[in-house]
Amino acid sequence: MTTLLKEKVLEENRRVHALENQLYLSRHPEQTNFFQNSIVEKTLDQICRDMGSNSKILDLGCGTGYLFLRFLRRGFDVTGLDLSNEMIQVLRNSVSENEKDRAHLNVGDVEEFFEKNQEEFDLVVFSAVLHHLFDYEMVLKKACRRLKTGTKIMIFFEPLKQSVASSFSYAFHRGLSWIDEKFYRFEMSMRDIPLLEDEYHHSDYQRQFGGIDPRDIEKVLREENFSILNIEKYCARRFGINAWLANRILKTQNTFNILAVRG
Ligand SMILES: C[S@@+](CC[C@H](N)C(=O)[O-])C[C@H]1O[C@@H](n2cnc3c(N)ncnc32)[C@H](O)[C@@H]1O
Repeated sequence: MTTLLKEKVLEENRRVHALENQLYLSRHPEQTNFFQNSIVEKTLDQICRDMGSNSKILDLGCGTGYLFLRFLRRGFDVTGLDLSNEMIQVLRNSVSENEKDRAHLNVGDVEEFFEKNQEEFDLVVFSAVLHHLFDYEMVLKKACRRLKTGTKIMIFFEPLKQSVASSFSYAFHRGLSWIDEKFYRFEMSMRDIPLLEDEYHHSDYQRQFGGIDPRDIEKVLREENFSILNIEKYCARRFGINAWLANRILKTQNTFNILAVRG
């Protein structure tokens, strides 16, 4: 039963991301709006500050290159892995000729990557991918066990499982979310970008449980001899202005990032 479900999650991820394809980031403006962009750049500045120019980065579930391309453009050697051939193809087309020797792209399942690949990395990135996995804790453990002392793990843009703090702020949170989604649907229809919501059955599997609790990730990381350097929780929204309002005024949260280093 478990094996069947696991296979189903993999199959659904292949199917949905084949459809997402080159419109993935257009369909997900919550990853690219000005508010999220400032979080990405600030996070990368902090991480890259301590990394030598010949550092090697592994981006697991790299998609169309949301973080992969930014690391590549900062001069690092980047290996990307994704289950979806179509997503990798979009990323391959975005790598410029003079960056190709530092960009290594693979199609495959994260769970199997460390069994087949013996390379050492200085930073391993999981961006918006753990919630797509059937057993993210097991994948994280496998990754941790393969990494050398000093290697960092960056977990980025995962849906935060949370209890509701107060019904008052929750009501505003829901209200802002409703407005954000209405405008998003309008914009997507104006741009003729089909929404794939009805296609997401099992592919973002952990959302069925309300997202991921960062304390569960912290526990795995600490057990595997990692120290937590930073945990950031914030509210992602389709539009930057709504993300700004949610974070600065309502102070609500639905997303988290974690940075940890192997001791
Ligand atoms: C929400 S997208 C995020 C893509 C990119 N990391 C980003 O932040 O934009 C999730 C990606 O994870 C990939 N994925 C899902 N399950 C995977 C698995 N088991 N192994 C490798 N990649 C997987 C999907 O194909 C998809 O490209």
